[in-house]
Formats: sequence, C-alpha cells, structure tokens
Amino acid sequence: MTKINVITIDGPSASGKGALALRIVNNFGFKILDSGALYRLYAYFSKMNFSPVEIINQIKMNIIFNNHKNRLSIVYKEDDISLELRSEAIAKLASELSSKKEVRDALFNIQRNFYDGDILVADGRDMGTVVFKDAKLKIFLTASPEERAKRRYLELQNRGQEVNMPALIADIKKRDFKDSSREISPLIPAEDSIMIDSSEMSLDEVFSFTESIIRKEFN
Ligand code: DC
Repeated sequence: MTKINVITIDGPSASGKGALALRIVNNFGFKILDSGALYRLYAYFSKMNFSPVEIINQIKMNIIFNNHKNRLSIVYKEDDISLELRSEAIAKLASELSSKKEVRDALFNIQRNFYDGDILVADGRDMGTVVFKDAKLKIFLTASPEERAKRRYLELQNRGQEVNMPALIADIKKRDFKDSSREISPLIPAEDSIMIDSSEMSLDEVFSFTESIIRKEFN
C-alpha cells in the first residue's frame, strides 16, 4: 500500500489526542483534522433539523476551522460555535449518530479531503483503521479511565461546571465500552500503530516522545 503523509492519533475520549494533535501541528506547521468535531457538527446541524444532505452541505460550505495557537475554533457563518459543540447535549447526540453507517459514510469523503499532500495530523477513533488506513504514522493514545476522568474533572471545573468524580469515571467506562464494542468502526488500535499509555506522562512527555518518531519518519 502506498503510504500518504498523514499522522493518525486515535484513542478513547479524554486521552489527550486533541491536545497532542494541536501541539504537533503548531510545532511542525502541519495541517489538522479534528474528526470528532465533524461528528459534533453533524449532531449540531441535525438538532437544527437539516436533512442528511443539507448537513453535509452546511459542513462543506459554511464551516471554517481556525487554528489559533493552542486552540482550534469552529466558525459557522461568522459565529464561533466551538463552545456549543463541546456541550453535553451535542456530545451525547454525536455519540449516538456516530454509530450509524450512513453518518460515518457521509463524513468519510469530507475527512479524506482534508488531505491534500501536505502533512496532515488526524485525530479521532478510526483514523488509522478506516479513514487513513494508508497513513505513514499511526499513534494510539490511551490512559486509564481514572486518569482520564481526572483530566476531564479539571477541564469541567475550569469551565465552572459542577462535577462528580465517581460519576465521571463511570461515564468514561460506559463510553469506552460503547465505542469499542460498536459494530462499525469500533475503537481499536490499528495493527501498525504505536501505542502510548499516557496515564503517567505529561503532555510535554508524550509530545517529546512522538516528536522524535515524527522526525525519524518524516525527516
Ligand atoms: O472526540 P470527540 O469527543 O469530539 O468525538 C465526538 C463523538 O464522535 C464521540 O462520540 C466519538 C465520535 N467519533 C467517532 O465515532 N469517530 C471519530 N473518528 C471521531 C469521533
């Protein structure tokens, strides 16, 4: 298989994929695809009662991804909707929709079209197993449910939201089970992926480990 210039980062929720992807693209000047954001956008537009065809058109025509330093913002017709996309209601619907074959199929080409030959970092659940099977470098980033719950706890607390640690751990375990047991595109590491368990690693440590692999792989 001819390999393309893509670095995939897959893994469970709150494993730090997004933060690692941003660190890599900002350090090396690569392009980025946050595939989870596409599932969230699909949910956002279906809540607005757009038909499946219209949803795809809205994403293609009216959405802009802006990478400002350490934040990827999503703009719809000049409105920054990043925060709305992170809401629990959207997350829940995105999770439901992401198990449907027609939704995954509809988003497939949009995801592939992010690649134009320049090095692309794509994070999600099935980047290395389905969407970019032909990626040159595949990373599977994970961490224990307890550690991921701790990270989510801090994130939510920073946003001023009430949080309950045991409920967060239970929620993460439930989502892991759902993600990895679903029939279509389950969350599993690609055979040729490099596994990183970041339970006891800081983002800096994960980044410097991946940085050396990227330098070797992409010169
Ligand atoms: O990574 P995230 O939380 O933004 O993802 C939102 C939802 O989309 C989540 O339920 C998992 C799903 N998803 C997926 O099924 N496949 C992807 N490649 C990315 C996300």
